[in-house]
Amino acid sequence: MNILVTGGAGYIGSHICIELIQTGHEIIIVDNFSNSDMEVINRLEAITKKKIIFLPIDICNQEEFEKVFQNYSIDSVIHLAGSKSVLESLNDPIKYYLQNLVCTIQLVSLMNKYKVHQLVFSSSATVYGTPEQCPIPETATLKTENPYGTTKLAVEKFLYEFAQSNHSFSIVLLRYFNPIGAHESGMIGEDPFTIPNNLMPYITQVATGKLPFLDIYGNDYSTLDGTGIRDYIHVVDLAKGHVKALESLKEKYGWRVFNLGTGEGYSVLQVVKTFEYVSGIPIPYLISDRRKGDVAISYADATKAKQQLNWAAEKTLEDMCRDAWRWQRNNPNGYKVGNIREGQLVYLTDL
Ligand code: UD1
Repeated sequence: MNILVTGGAGYIGSHICIELIQTGHEIIIVDNFSNSDMEVINRLEAITKKKIIFLPIDICNQEEFEKVFQNYSIDSVIHLAGSKSVLESLNDPIKYYLQNLVCTIQLVSLMNKYKVHQLVFSSSATVYGTPEQCPIPETATLKTENPYGTTKLAVEKFLYEFAQSNHSFSIVLLRYFNPIGAHESGMIGEDPFTIPNNLMPYITQVATGKLPFLDIYGNDYSTLDGTGIRDYIHVVDLAKGHVKALESLKEKYGWRVFNLGTGEGYSVLQVVKTFEYVSGIPIPYLISDRRKGDVAISYADATKAKQQLNWAAEKTLEDMCRDAWRWQRNNPNGYKVGNIREGQLVYLTDL
């Protein structure tokens, strides 16, 4: 099938593109490179040995974006383009409502116009807010606590109501838990443009010496060691979940939602210890105050995806840490120049 991947050059998008190509799909990447690097495309071509069609377009530029639908034959869309920083969304809600909500509505309207009726949308466990129960089933109460989360939930609701009105569409929403890790090749991974907000890229930058120590946000939660618990999922497992979701689109019409998580929670300290174990590098840390907006515990009930998509995460926390470290070690500056070059790369057997 021909799949349009919006945001396909991003951290999650790039891993999805590899899985799509490796399962025989043709892809068209649309990305405005606002939070990604052109070098990703070279890396994708090197890994897959395929020429990749990529269009440096902003999906919010309707005129330009419409040309993609006019010029390419598209069977399905995986929609990841959007902004994802909680903090930024609190300071700039207009940006989030425009990019995440308005531009998704425009995308669906183009899909409708050009009779592209299959959509996988990238949602987030953030729609559960402070969960009332763990593991969290898809039926849990939804409530959001910041504009980023609210725009994800608003898109979910829009897609639900749209699917009620238009029975030719097949839409799957995937609620991601905490994607970490990197492709086994060590050639693509997470490359934050600024100091990382999320745990794993922070740890890997402490490991390279770029950052002096990790701040652990609170050790007074009611958890086994007092630190927050999350459902970390390997980004390659997450990407495979998208391929399964995509393949299920042709079998069922309407709107469906799935959690993509492992179903298991790990504390911040467990992640730090596992990272130290697989990398052999000590991670100095300080305990600081809780971060505003953080919940104590969040992990998925992952049974629905297993039953209905025949998908389950397979990789362990050790795999996630090892792969994240391989990526960071090979690319201390992310995709930017000054990295270790081919020939000096660290391969699987070295770790
Ligand atoms: C965060 C976002 C969430 C978003 C997700 C995307 C917040 C409040 N939540 O999730 O909406 O969907 O990223 O990936 O920003 N931690 C530290 N020190 C650090 C960084 C994190 O102790 O430097 C802790 C956090 O307190 C938390 C855990 O590590 O307990 C995971 O944090 P993070 O990786 O930022 O993910 P979330 O907060 O779960």
